[in-house]
Amino acid sequence: MQRSLMHGNRGERTLFTGIAQLVTPGVGPQRGAAMRDLTLISGAAMLVEHGLIAWIGSQKDAPPADQIHDLGGVAVTPALTDPHTHAVWAGDRLTDFEARVQGVPYETILAQGGGIRSTMRSTAAATVSDLVALALPRIQALLHSGATTIELKSGYGLDFDAEIRMLEAVRLLQTRTAATLLPTLLLHVPPAKGRAEYVQAVCQSLIPRVANEKLATAVDVFCEREAFTVDETRQFFAAARLAGLNIKLHADQFHAIGGTELACELGALSVDHLEASTEAQIAALGRSQTVATILPGVTLHLGLLAAPARQLIDAGACVSIGTDLNPGSSPLYSAQLALALSVRLNRLTPAEALTAATVNAAAALGLEDRGALSPGQRADFLALHSADWRDLTYTLGANPVRSVFVARREQPQQEVQEQAL
Ligand code: NIG
Ligand code: FE
Repeated sequence: MQRSLMHGNRGERTLFTGIAQLVTPGVGPQRGAAMRDLTLISGAAMLVEHGLIAWIGSQKDAPPADQIHDLGGVAVTPALTDPHTHAVWAGDRLTDFEARVQGVPYETILAQGGGIRSTMRSTAAATVSDLVALALPRIQALLHSGATTIELKSGYGLDFDAEIRMLEAVRLLQTRTAATLLPTLLLHVPPAKGRAEYVQAVCQSLIPRVANEKLATAVDVFCEREAFTVDETRQFFAAARLAGLNIKLHADQFHAIGGTELACELGALSVDHLEASTEAQIAALGRSQTVATILPGVTLHLGLLAAPARQLIDAGACVSIGTDLNPGSSPLYSAQLALALSVRLNRLTPAEALTAATVNAAAALGLEDRGALSPGQRADFLALHSADWRDLTYTLGANPVRSVFVARREQPQQEVQEQAL
């Protein structure tokens, strides 16, 4: 059932009532044990003005408002952020999938020219409007699962023009969805020939062009035996910094080859994957400000070990969760399901998982204005079907999110979903 709500005039103060539980982590990145510190208010209300939270508290103490929106006795949490997706692609990986489930490893398929390289061939052949049409329903699925802020990576372009087309598709997609989209330039796999020249051209031409045209806010690199080396990653990061872009990294997915240590040394926003991280990488992340992003969909789909999130939190790291939505390693179209899987596969507690998927996921994108229900934060929030917030971390395969509310500065709150569970 879809329902759109009529609201009053622009900028009015809307009081949301009928909140059985209002649950939130603290504002900004939360590390280690602080990830478990949630605030829970029973019988709560929340005042929203100009797209920002103006007040939260017990409903009996609620301030006056221009209009009241009764949520009917359900739990309310911050909206989720998905800090890691490859949601723009063409073609499919169904043949790879069939081979993989019969025992052919992901890296072998990639080394033989399939996998990521086959998605690159299909994506390079697509137009910008093809890419927009393919990606939009994926983004809407993530939004309906609770993610109002979504990162999207390039990385399936065979050449620079195809990379740019992917980022242009993200720019157009931003006008078609209520979600906030953050584009990232991903240096995914090196060409079969002319590797050194390619690295140089990326640094001297692609990265500056992407920065000048404001097509991405960050540069990401797949640092792995089958992809880029630590030394090549260092060169990309130097060019990114020179161009004023943030840096982040795919590291330790199959082998810990030093990418995590480099990213921590250079103050990357996040290091993502970490399935193969060992004590040295856990200790480095525990000491650094760099967010450790886990991707439980990859563990499920590729049958990899789970990233050691329990040890990372115990070492004091700031852990976040992403879907890694992509056709090869994680066809996972739900940020809520990524959160729920992290509790099973990575042994996060429900409280840690909520923090990881909200404030910490926003921090993985350099954002501190969202992810907590606190005065001054963006009023992106979820109303669940349930009166108990833990259903968000418990439910598998049905959507426990009843409504997704997205902040709009000069307009009333936008409610983008209401469906029966
Ligand atoms: O995050 N590992 C590298 N990149 C993606 C997978 C991309 C693909 O298989 O198409 C990832 O897992
Ligand atoms: Fe990825």
